[in-house]
Amino acid sequence: MSLKPSSSRRDFLKKGALAGVAAAFVPGARVVGEAAARAPRKAFAGPIAISSRNGTRAVEKAVEVLRSGADALDAVIAGVNIVEGDPEDVTVGYGGLPNENGVVQLDSAVMHGPTGRAGAVGALEGVKYPSKVARMVLERTDHVLLVGKGAQDFARMHGFPIEDLLTDKAREMWVRWKETLSNRDDYLPPHKPTDRDIGANLEEVERHWGTIHCSAIDLSGNISCVTTTSGLSFKIPGRVGDSPIIGAGLYVDNEVGAAGSTGRGEANLENLCSFLIVERMRMGDSPEQACLYACQRIVDHTRLAYLLDDRGRPKFNVKFYALNKAGEVGGAEIWGGDNTFAVADAAGSRLAPLAYLYKRER
Ligand code: GLY
Repeated sequence: MSLKPSSSRRDFLKKGALAGVAAAFVPGARVVGEAAARAPRKAFAGPIAISSRNGTRAVEKAVEVLRSGADALDAVIAGVNIVEGDPEDVTVGYGGLPNENGVVQLDSAVMHGPTGRAGAVGALEGVKYPSKVARMVLERTDHVLLVGKGAQDFARMHGFPIEDLLTDKAREMWVRWKETLSNRDDYLPPHKPTDRDIGANLEEVERHWGTIHCSAIDLSGNISCVTTTSGLSFKIPGRVGDSPIIGAGLYVDNEVGAAGSTGRGEANLENLCSFLIVERMRMGDSPEQACLYACQRIVDHTRLAYLLDDRGRPKFNVKFYALNKAGEVGGAEIWGGDNTFAVADAAGSRLAPLAYLYKRER
């Protein structure tokens, strides 16, 4: 895995895209058959698990579960449950940053490779482990996605406790955001009674798009994945990001591989990049090449001026993680330099470098 795509790699990515388009329009071309012929793969029998960087404990747990012979879906959910239940991680599950009204709304999806089935929840309130509810949607309904009150009623029906997920840490971050958002409303940040220019020098409060994605291959060579998040911090109530959308926040094809995302969900929703990455791997891309390809797709499709810097590059970041049927792993992001993702297998866990399109200046 090299850190940065060279210009020749960019050319390769572009040529790869053109080749794909050309093949798709040649009369009689059998794109899937040709792609499969280009990418013969020996199935890898796990255990292996990958996740976003906040998931070291998750991939270690997933591999521990896989070693017992468990299905990959059991393993990835057990892994991310550690992060969902951790009040210190303000981007996932319990302790996640709330919406603009101070209410924590969670998105999550799971996908099971061997059956090709998926389950998801969006804007779910009050349940610490949304990935477990997503799995319940997969197993106990004929649907794929439940949202809002319906998702919560469904969780309650299946015995999930409904709790207040807003921790003091997340509440304080939300209050600070609210008090420093604008000087045209009536909220004031902490100040001395003698201050005359309240809040004038406050730095902008950072918005978070943190999320955890985890994919794994079990001992039978089957692949499953999960993505779970509290979504964009201080979002408009009801906003659902890419995480619970199959093909955007995650995707698996048991014969090819799996992919998932973290970062600005809106950019991914408009490009369905997890599906794109799996299709690129089907055509022969390595996981890293496929993730870079998806990053480039987002860059090419981002046109709104307020999202672009003075050189026409997106101001935001999106990250992708992928593994293929052969057990190869890779990841990439739009803006990077020294970022990593978590990998665990029979040899232990490690952080592996994420490739990137643009180097972030510190
Ligand atoms: N990628 C997480 C979100 O946008 O909600």
